[in-house]
Parts: sequence; structure tokens; C-alpha cells
Amino acid sequence: MKTFHIAVIPGDGIGKEVVPEGIRVLEAAGERFGFRFNWHNFDWSCETYVKTGKMMPDDGLRQLRPYDAIFLGAVGHPSVPDHVSLWGLLIPIRRGFRQYANLRPVHLFDGIETPLKNWKPGQIDFCVVRENNEGEYSNIGGRIYDGTDEEMAVQQSVFTRRGVNRVLRFAFELARKRRKHLTSATKSNGIMHTMPFWDECFHRVAIEYPDVRTDQFHIDILSAHFVRHPDWFDVVVGSNLFGDILSDLGPAVVGSIGIAPSGNLNPEKEFPSMFEPVHGSAPDIAGKGIANPIAQIWSGAMMLRHLGASEAADAIENAISDVLAKSEVRTADIGGQASTKEMGAAIAARVNQKK
Ligand code: NAI
Ligand code: MG
Repeated sequence: MKTFHIAVIPGDGIGKEVVPEGIRVLEAAGERFGFRFNWHNFDWSCETYVKTGKMMPDDGLRQLRPYDAIFLGAVGHPSVPDHVSLWGLLIPIRRGFRQYANLRPVHLFDGIETPLKNWKPGQIDFCVVRENNEGEYSNIGGRIYDGTDEEMAVQQSVFTRRGVNRVLRFAFELARKRRKHLTSATKSNGIMHTMPFWDECFHRVAIEYPDVRTDQFHIDILSAHFVRHPDWFDVVVGSNLFGDILSDLGPAVVGSIGIAPSGNLNPEKEFPSMFEPVHGSAPDIAGKGIANPIAQIWSGAMMLRHLGASEAADAIENAISDVLAKSEVRTADIGGQASTKEMGAAIAARVNQKK
């Protein structure tokens, strides 16, 4: 029997509550489709940071390297500055393992209310591809004259031809498998060096994909279009910062950040990829057992797809969709009263029901 070796990092806050539900549903899929998991838990988190001064050990990447994939909850705690938790764990993993494409699907499910009026289930269905290794999230820069009136901070963006081209190619390939339409997020009017460079790369790579329709919008009006015309989009590609913002806006448009999954992908499979919800550790609801586990569960389905078990991935996605459409089970963020565990159990039970 095929066994997947998975590194699990529940992290902080609701990460610890939703990860077990993700595992429960993946186990159900394994039972139905005939594969097994070997889960290895890593207690790397802000709690660990407070005890040891490190989010993960110095050889953390070496420890993760042998696994087929990484299944992560969320990191972040009010007692630790957010840049410490992000730069101490997530960013080193995303960079070290060349997870340069962050894939974040957005779908309007039957049974979920959207803040937008008059949209029917399925009419909103697109993917945000976020550049995940460079761009605006760089550690190049610094401060001088700290604490004085002349104090200043400089933060350098980094866009390389190789880095931009590879994420664009990933997005074009994805569009090719979908509705063959790719939108690029830019801001080449205001950001006069890196964004025209991004646009040039986009136009050059587009020539290799004559079957894919392309367009581009400045990030400001693109955000407006996400709200007014969410049906215009199939695949949307953006830099690290633009992609980050769009991938919170997208899920908000279709109901809740609690359902939004993501894959940090190393498409060449030279390193493990990492699957995690888009949301964070939600300290405001942590410990109450009411977090929505769907984002985590759907991230698990993306993990299976990446590992080649696409039938099982489909079964999980269908189970999420069925439970939302045909049952009353839902967590508070999507208008119900179910607990995290009840929601997870309902989806796992659905995965087990063979059609
Ligand atoms: P957040 O995503 O944790 O929470 C935003 C809002 O959405 C909160 O009101 C929260 O209750 C709600 N929410 C989030 N996930 C939910 C779920 N599954 N079910 C129901 N409601 C949910 O973002 P926030 O508040 O900006 O960040 C909190 C902490 O998480 C910070 O320390 C931040 O750095 C960290 N963070 C970590 C991320 C990661 O691990 N990838 C991503 C984003 C934030
Ligand atoms: Mg974000």
C-alpha cells in the first residue's frame, strides 16, 4: 500500500485546532482510496520560540527535506512580533524549498452566502497565483538614525528574470488546464522599475502560450474588479505582495477566509511543497473550538493532488461542496453553530460514503 510521509506543523492558535480535522479527512480519503499516511509532528511555533528563542531549529529544513510534503496550520501569536514568526519559519521554508508558486483557489460554493449580491454557486471560480520567493518580501534594507528625527527605513524589492518567468510559466500552464485565461496584476504606472519589468516578462512568456488569452490590470482597479466582476477571472498572477492581498480579497468575496486553502508549490518536485490555509492563527477565536476547518481540509486535498492522488483530492473537494450544499453543518464564520470537530467529522463521513 502506498504510504505518504507528511511533516505536520500545527503551529499556533487555531492551527492546532484545524490541523487534526485536516488529518481526519485525509485519513478517510486514504481508507477509501487505498493509501496510508505516516504523520510526523513538529512542534515549531511561537510557543517554541518563547521557550527556545527559535521558531524552528537551525537544521529545520534538513529535518523537513525527506518528507513528501508539509502540512501546516498557522503561525503567529500576540506575544511574538509577526515578522519574527513569519521570517523564522514560513519564509525560510518557502524560500529554502523553492516553493515559488503559491496557489490559492477561490470558489463560490452552494450553501455559502457571499457579501456580493446575485452571484450563483460556481459563477465565481478562479485561482490566484502568488509569486512566493522574492518581490516585495525581501530582507534587503535597513534603518539608519534610529530614534532621531532623521530616522529612515529602506526596504528593497527584488525581481529577477528567472524568478518572475518561472511563476508566470506556472500560471500559464495552470490557465492552459482551466479556461485558458490569465490576468496579470501590475502597477507599472506608479512603481516604475520592477513593475514594467514584470510586464515585459509577462508579454514575453505569453508568446509561448498563444492559446491562453491574457489581460492585465493595475492592482488598484483589479481589486475593484474582484468585487464588481469576480466572474472575469480564471487565473490571476501577481507578485508576492499583490498576490498576498488578492488572495485574502478573493476568499472574502466568496464568503469566508475560513474556507480558503493554499499550496506553496515547488512545481519541479525537487523539494517538499507545503500546504496551509490562507488564514492565520486567529487569536480572537483560538481555543474556542469554533474555527472553520475547511481551509485546512481543502489544503489537504491540494496536497493529495500534488502527490498524484487526484481522485482522492476530487473526493475531498466534492465532500466539502456536498456538506455545504446539502447539510446544515457549518461553523460560525459561515453562519452556523457547528464546532470545528463537527464540521471536520461531517466532511470525513462524506468522503467515506462511496457514491
Ligand atoms: P487571521 O487570518 O488569523 O484572522 C483574521 C480574521 O479571520 C479573524 O477575525 C479570525 O477570527 C478570522 N478567521 C481566520 N481563520 C478563520 C477560520 N478558520 N474560521 C473562522 N474564522 C477565521 O489573520 P490576522 O488576525 O491578521 O493574524 C493573526 C495571526 O496570524 C498573526 O500573528 C499573523 O501574523 C498570523 N498569520 C499567519 C499566517 C500563516 O501562518 N500563514 C497567515 C496570516 C496571518
Ligand atoms: Mg496573507
